[in-house]
Amino acid sequence: MNGRSRHGRFPAEFVWGVATAAYQIEGAAAVDGRSPSIWDTFSRSGGVVEGHSGDVACDHYHRWREDLDLLQWLGVDAYRFSIAWPRVQPGGHGAAEPRGLAFYDRLVDGLLERGIQPWASLYHWDLPQALEEAGGWPQRDTAYRFAEYAAIVHDTLGDRVAGWITMNEPWCVSLLGYAAGVHAPGRQEDAAAVRAVHHSLLAHGLAAEVLRARGAHGLGYAPNLYHVTAASDDEADRDAARRIDGLQNRLFLDPVLRGTYPADVVDDLAPVTDFSFVHDGDLALIGAPIDFLGVNYYSIYTVAAATGDPTRDATDPDAARTGAHGAARSPWVGSRNVVFRSSGKPLTAMGWEVDADGLRQVLVRVADEYDAPPIYVTENGAAYADVLHDGDVEDAERIAYVGGHLEACAAAIAEGVDLRGYFLWSLMDNFEWSWGYTRRFGIVHVDYETQERTPKASARWYRELMAGD
Ligand code: FCB
Repeated sequence: MNGRSRHGRFPAEFVWGVATAAYQIEGAAAVDGRSPSIWDTFSRSGGVVEGHSGDVACDHYHRWREDLDLLQWLGVDAYRFSIAWPRVQPGGHGAAEPRGLAFYDRLVDGLLERGIQPWASLYHWDLPQALEEAGGWPQRDTAYRFAEYAAIVHDTLGDRVAGWITMNEPWCVSLLGYAAGVHAPGRQEDAAAVRAVHHSLLAHGLAAEVLRARGAHGLGYAPNLYHVTAASDDEADRDAARRIDGLQNRLFLDPVLRGTYPADVVDDLAPVTDFSFVHDGDLALIGAPIDFLGVNYYSIYTVAAATGDPTRDATDPDAARTGAHGAARSPWVGSRNVVFRSSGKPLTAMGWEVDADGLRQVLVRVADEYDAPPIYVTENGAAYADVLHDGDVEDAERIAYVGGHLEACAAAIAEGVDLRGYFLWSLMDNFEWSWGYTRRFGIVHVDYETQERTPKASARWYRELMAGD
């Protein structure tokens, strides 16, 4: 791209970026023919703290030029955004909505005019509500609908998008949405949640096939991965860690990178459901080669078997991960007899433990154990209780978090991992799902009353870092 070396620890062509997602920033929920998504419905039915919703969010739909100017000021190589399915194909089937497509068309052109590569996620959780009413992700047909939508998007943007991410974090889509019920659509149906796992993976496979047939390159997929360790060497704790690693990591890596489901996870899930929803040919589609693996990384898990002693088993730092209502119901289908221990590391405002070395471990593990394609960190960042003071936010903790994780990236590269880029989550404060606007992940502060954007200290720091030594 530009030959900047950044301390010489990253390759010159390393891609530096920031990421966002449609429902979290766009607002304009009922503008230009957009239909409701499951997150509109979930917000309206009390699923989000303080009754927050994405109705207005950062009003990015109307302020996109200003936001692209911010990206240009930052000096990123690439911007990862997501396309709202209910904007470009309202209701999730049938004809495209030209006004919705035109928005992304302008956005992509605006990025290119500013010298920024557009990276588009096709699914960042805003399923058209009509498709949920037809069964949602537990329903196989949803995957076919997704491929149709992917084709519509590619037909408009395919000549200009540098990177495609089919599915963002299918673990959240399926297990938080359909088992824990703390994400939209808020269902708590274990067998359906496992079907949702398969159909979100199938959606990736079908969309990848459709995009390939249209000549797409730069095709990837972005699961959220954790470094998982057992709390002790006891066999029961090690088995608990195996189960959680299976459900969090291997269930979403093996099908895509190996074309198989991990046998031990299928066994763990046997009391919940068999895998008869897997049809002949599905795994070949899901396992077809991709151009890159996106890794979203935030934290670690230290796992133990439940002891039955409530004072020991009560600690569940994962409550934060699973939503604003606490761990209303565990997402760990078929393996609920596990507990999560504190490792004593500092916490972000999400209650997630900060462990940068976990990112190095995840990257090395994926590179070593899988025949992995090139890797991009497609999300990494942190929420802190930022204070806007005299027109500035001194977010030293966020700088330390990102700096530490970039060190981990450099260490992984030094160990031979083919890591090609890093996307910081997030460009600006936004709607943090079931936590609404109460958690801020941005390097740019957003005043939700005035929509004023104020770069934080972390934005200036990241800008300098990207500008090189
Ligand atoms: C990830 C999501 C992203 C954002 C971050 C904090 O799970 O993909 O939209 O909410 O967490």
